[in-house]
Amino acid sequence: MSAATNIHPIFHRILQRTDKENQLQQNAKILWLTGLSGSGKSTIAEALEKKLQEQNFFTELLDGDNIRAGINNNLGFSDADRLENIRRIAEVSKLFLNCGIITINSFVSPTNDVRALAKKIIGENDFIEIYVNCPIEICEQRDVKGLYAKARRGEIKDFTGITAPFEAPVAPSIEIKSNELTIEESVEKIFNHILPIITKEKK
Ligand code: ADX
Repeated sequence: MSAATNIHPIFHRILQRTDKENQLQQNAKILWLTGLSGSGKSTIAEALEKKLQEQNFFTELLDGDNIRAGINNNLGFSDADRLENIRRIAEVSKLFLNCGIITINSFVSPTNDVRALAKKIIGENDFIEIYVNCPIEICEQRDVKGLYAKARRGEIKDFTGITAPFEAPVAPSIEIKSNELTIEESVEKIFNHILPIITKEKK
């Protein structure tokens, strides 16, 4: 049962999302990047945020390693902890959404279940799923953080793609084959897709 009893939210009295979107002259969305560790999510997310800022959009970037160092520093990588990780991130993202901010989320978010939960919390219309697709052999070859080697040596358990599952999204809004495109091309593809969605029509 929910612990939230005897609370009285006052959402109707506070400034609305549309007020903030008007102020920022943009439509808020959550851009949700999912993919294996080492697939290029963070790099693409960072470059995308720069591009959006250059075009005068107001953004926030949430990233797995950062969030796990702070608000989610009590969570590990069991199925239950990953679900809780994504639940909290989705709730936090919703707060940004209600501030009119375009939020770029970069999380492994490895299963259909966790991504479905995020989509449910955020709402279908505001959740744009971007699959950063890179073959595991290449992620493992790059092994930027040395985690695949550790996982192979048995030093990390439940490592996504090695000893824990990664389920490819069934129908992502955008798919980026990050081993076939440059960072610039990846950003361009995402930007072109989202531009009409985040652009506020002039009244
Ligand atoms: S998620 O599965 O819960 O969505 P999240 O994106 O927050 O994962 O964190 C993934 C990051 O944590 C990876 O980029 C990697 O650096 C690190 N990490 C450490 N242990 C694991 C693990 N067992 N599986 C996946 N990533 C791990």
